[in-house]
Amino acid sequence: MSFTALQSVDVAGKRVLLRCDLNVPIKEGVIRDDGRIRASLPTIKYLIENGARIVITAHLGRPKGERNPDMTLAPVAERLGELLGLPVLFSPEIVGSGVDALKTALMPGQVLLLENIRYEAAETSKDESERAAFAAQLATGMDLFVSDGFGAVHRKHASVYDVAKLLPNAAGFLVAAEIEVLQKLTENPDRPYGVVLGGAKVSDKIGVIKNLLNKVDLLAIGGGMLFTFLAAQGDEIGKSLVEVDLIPEVKKLLQEAKDLGVELLLPTDIVVAPTFAEDATPTLVSAAQIPADQIGLDIGPVSAAAFGQAIEKCHTVFWNGPMGVFEFPNFANGTKVIAESLTKVSGISVVGGGDSAAAVRALGFKDDQFGYISTGGGASLEYLEGKSLPGIEVLNNA
Ligand code: 3PG
Repeated sequence: MSFTALQSVDVAGKRVLLRCDLNVPIKEGVIRDDGRIRASLPTIKYLIENGARIVITAHLGRPKGERNPDMTLAPVAERLGELLGLPVLFSPEIVGSGVDALKTALMPGQVLLLENIRYEAAETSKDESERAAFAAQLATGMDLFVSDGFGAVHRKHASVYDVAKLLPNAAGFLVAAEIEVLQKLTENPDRPYGVVLGGAKVSDKIGVIKNLLNKVDLLAIGGGMLFTFLAAQGDEIGKSLVEVDLIPEVKKLLQEAKDLGVELLLPTDIVVAPTFAEDATPTLVSAAQIPADQIGLDIGPVSAAAFGQAIEKCHTVFWNGPMGVFEFPNFANGTKVIAESLTKVSGISVVGGGDSAAAVRALGFKDDQFGYISTGGGASLEYLEGKSLPGIEVLNNA
């Protein structure tokens, strides 16, 4: 994988189109976790300090080509300005003559953030020519494209992929750092190598499990996805989440793990409740026999401790997806214990994904307690699945 490093490009005075991933959780207009904004700062600061004129594109949520005021980047512009200690100009328009005039007027060191790029249907269009035409508008008046929105590099979108075909380009510091970490996880990792997967759906993770099974020593499964594994073993899962169509495939994976000698950890105890609600009464039950009227909402304390012990013995750990409904305090213990154990790994520990990163911060952990916190959920999973990332592959092809 080769791309031009930002440091090797002369950016002084240049108009730089910078793609960032500023897709942060926002509730009632308030940013709940600004991790992705902070992760974008090194590249933005470097460009400012080196006299570039910076136009940032980014998305928030999935507005599907429509202007949705709940998904405006305006609060992000404000937060970015606070973190930089500089005013950040914000343009509600994304392309067109008004924006072109703003680009022309930018002074060295000035930053302009364009409104949510996904307000424009062409950004995510499957029609290559529609995307290319939109990318040409984005590239108007610009001298260089810097790709730093790691969380979106698995998307063949106009601002991620097509613009790189139109402008000289380079990878930003975040993209370079993320790729370096992912390479460490896939090329000759220090052993034992453990992968911990959680989150709601097996379908999101099955590709990663398949691709990593012959590379890891330990695979621990939690979150909503674990119940499809329990069902595949013939356990009673009550009203818990299950993807019935994937049971045959999961059965095969369980057998394959056995054949390969991979330690596959599934919980033995589960915290259940009658409803999916913050105030629902938690009960601890055996993972093999979840009562018919109960939903599994977290891994139990015995399982969390066993997972934790196994993780702490590893020298390389990748974790993606919470172990339970960590947003509800009664069902947050599993995720907390796993996060704690990652902080004790003597080697590289990687927390993957925007949601997992937000989870550890929400539970009170600090970024520097982990080896690396990846900003990319889907992007890091697709890399670990062995898929190519269009937004990376396209770099240097201008
Ligand atoms: C993410 O949240 O993983 C990235 O911002 C990409 O968002 P997307 O899945 O909506 O493309």
